[in-house]
Amino acid sequence: MPLWVIIVMILMGALFAAKLLYVLGTGGLLPLTQGAIFVSTSTPRIQATLDAVPMRPGERLYDLGCGDGRVLRAMVGRYDVQAVGFEVNPVAYLVAKALSVATERVRICYGNFWSKDLSDADVVFCYLFPDLMERLALKLHRELRPGCRVVSCNFPLSGWTPTQILHPTAQRHADPIYLYEVPGSTVPTGPVWISHFT
Ligand SMILES: C[S@@+](CC[C@H](N)C(=O)[O-])C[C@H]1O[C@@H](n2cnc3c(N)ncnc32)[C@H](O)[C@@H]1O
Repeated sequence: MPLWVIIVMILMGALFAAKLLYVLGTGGLLPLTQGAIFVSTSTPRIQATLDAVPMRPGERLYDLGCGDGRVLRAMVGRYDVQAVGFEVNPVAYLVAKALSVATERVRICYGNFWSKDLSDADVVFCYLFPDLMERLALKLHRELRPGCRVVSCNFPLSGWTPTQILHPTAQRHADPIYLYEVPGSTVPTGPVWISHFT
């Protein structure tokens, strides 16, 4: 058999194995992720978030279900913050690890964010699914300190009142991005960031 045929077969086998791992990993995790599969936030939406949520150097960002880690890298690149992502999908985790290896101040943790303490967060980012938002709203309400900001892509946090709702103008990327702030901060963090729980 010619060498090129063997190489093509090996490449196709590797591709198939990666797809299979992705499908099995994603399917097996559905009870935990409730449908929030590994889909990345687009660049226009990340840019809109960066513009609307300025951070100070050294502040701490968490991405709950960080996918390939692109939000973390973008935030570190713009604001020089400490960024931590939790990811439970092994494929997404490995991709995030590989892509972030050269970016200082980005930490990718393999694991379930429900068991993580978020009380030292300055900003929490998430792009999850509606079935999770009620439980997440309670967790964030319990753990986040006053002044902490929350960014939720596409789906609102149940019972929280957004300070702002972004609608990025780029076509196909215009789904809402909900911004919140935990009330009680003594330090102003940006324009009109006042919110309360309803
Ligand atoms: C829609 S993707 C968003 C990825 C990334 N945040 C972004 O915006 O590009 C949601 C991710 O959350 C992860 N995820 C869902 N539930 C999780 C959990 N309990 N712990 C850790 N990761 C979780 C999924 O595996 C998936 O990769």
